[in-house]
Amino acid sequence: MPIDFYSKLTNASGVYTFRDFVLVPGRSDVEPSKVDLSVNLTKNVHLNLPLVSSPMDTVTEADMAIALARQGGIGIIHRNMSIEEQVENAKRVKRAESFIIRDVVTIAPSQKISDALELMNTKSISGLPVVQDGERMVGILTRRDVNFSDPKEQVSQVMTKEVIVASPDVTIEDAKKIMNKRKVEKLPVVDQNKRLLGLITIKDVYSRERFPLATRDNQERLLVGAAISPYDLDRAKALEKYVDILVSDVAHFHNTNVLEAAKKLTKEVAVEFIAGNLGTLEGARDTLEALDGRVAGIRAGVGSGSICVTSEVTKAGAPTLFAVAQIAAAMQETGLQIPIIADGGIRAAGDGALALAAGASAVMMGNVFAGCTESPGGLIKIGGKYYKPYRGMGSLGSRQKRFAIDRYNQPAKGIAEGVEGVVPYRGDVSTVVEEFSGGLRASFGYAGASSVKDLWVKARFGAVTAAGIDEMRPHSIILPGEEKI
Ligand code: IMP
Repeated sequence: MPIDFYSKLTNASGVYTFRDFVLVPGRSDVEPSKVDLSVNLTKNVHLNLPLVSSPMDTVTEADMAIALARQGGIGIIHRNMSIEEQVENAKRVKRAESFIIRDVVTIAPSQKISDALELMNTKSISGLPVVQDGERMVGILTRRDVNFSDPKEQVSQVMTKEVIVASPDVTIEDAKKIMNKRKVEKLPVVDQNKRLLGLITIKDVYSRERFPLATRDNQERLLVGAAISPYDLDRAKALEKYVDILVSDVAHFHNTNVLEAAKKLTKEVAVEFIAGNLGTLEGARDTLEALDGRVAGIRAGVGSGSICVTSEVTKAGAPTLFAVAQIAAAMQETGLQIPIIADGGIRAAGDGALALAAGASAVMMGNVFAGCTESPGGLIKIGGKYYKPYRGMGSLGSRQKRFAIDRYNQPAKGIAEGVEGVVPYRGDVSTVVEEFSGGLRASFGYAGASSVKDLWVKARFGAVTAAGIDEMRPHSIILPGEEKI
């Protein structure tokens, strides 16, 4: 059959972006403050806010993941580091909070105070249960004990021997009462034989009250995800015990070799797997078929990221809003209800609302979170203003560290698919999340939707013309700082 080249152009479908639509206001009896923004990111992972931070080396390491989980979202630890470093980041998130810490760092009575100091500093902890023969608790060593001692002294000479402890069935309320009454900040949990089973810290007890929306697992630890390549089974196996989800981190998941690798990998690991990135109905359909029940979520969007030059360089792309709607159509077709994560190009809450309205359950952001205090990298001052570094994982800088190199199928010459730069400093994650969720709530209010699922039903899209884009933002006014323009 002859190829009809001309029809390929004339029948081309629109690939819509966030700039092309608005949410048409609907009749509403929804107060923004009453909107329920909680969602299922996967079957097992429930978020109180639909926000996910990108696995990028200028966005998500342990600090970001901790801060975002405390606010109700989840961070995905990037993979541009060794397996050991990535596992350590995940462990840090899991250790950051829990009612009873199970993975307790301890010290032996025969060790030196200098050893204790080093442990406290490297692990950022302030108290060490002292354990004989690897299990029996004989004392506790706090930073106060250590600070006033000779580093050459033995732990047994300095430790507090009379330790207030709790039994394994202690409740959060009991622990709080004991700690307040006895004025202790650490409460070891021991069995009848004084075997150390865990540790409760006052910080964790109060953290539940300070962060009521935090996303937690069934041991009260914060939720965390990690990025992997579908080819990297070793990494997936090393991470599976410490993370709640593994997130595929390849630019083009709809590739026969990638699908094959993911198929093998998902058979070997027990933790839920988010596939991606995908941009089309066919991509989602083939993924669902290939992985046959082992897809817990899909990362949608190819080429929309703010640091992305994929579409510019290769002219290949499925903008995030289009990708979400396409993959949502695949879900309709298959009858599966697998959550979709809109990934790339989200600049503000309104874009997030559009992505959710198009069928997503959560939004993944790199740029927005890169500007927060908790992202890796220090503040950069330029002309009196503060910025933070931000770069694509396909940028030359990122690719100089070898670990992420397989995200992009680089030709031998190594064409960069990402750029490096800086983004304005936005403050702490808590401030940014508050602003963003406030914006989402307002959008939901206009649409008359009380939850994400309600938005899926009620949202009406309005198509904006190229001329309209100019009208639908501040215009005909000179804003402060723009006086010279
Ligand atoms: P942003 O929030 O618009 O900055 O988009 C972040 C998303 O861009 C990430 O979650 C990735 O899916 C994607 N991404 C990360 N690095 C690159 C890159 O170097 N090129 C293209 N896309 C990238």
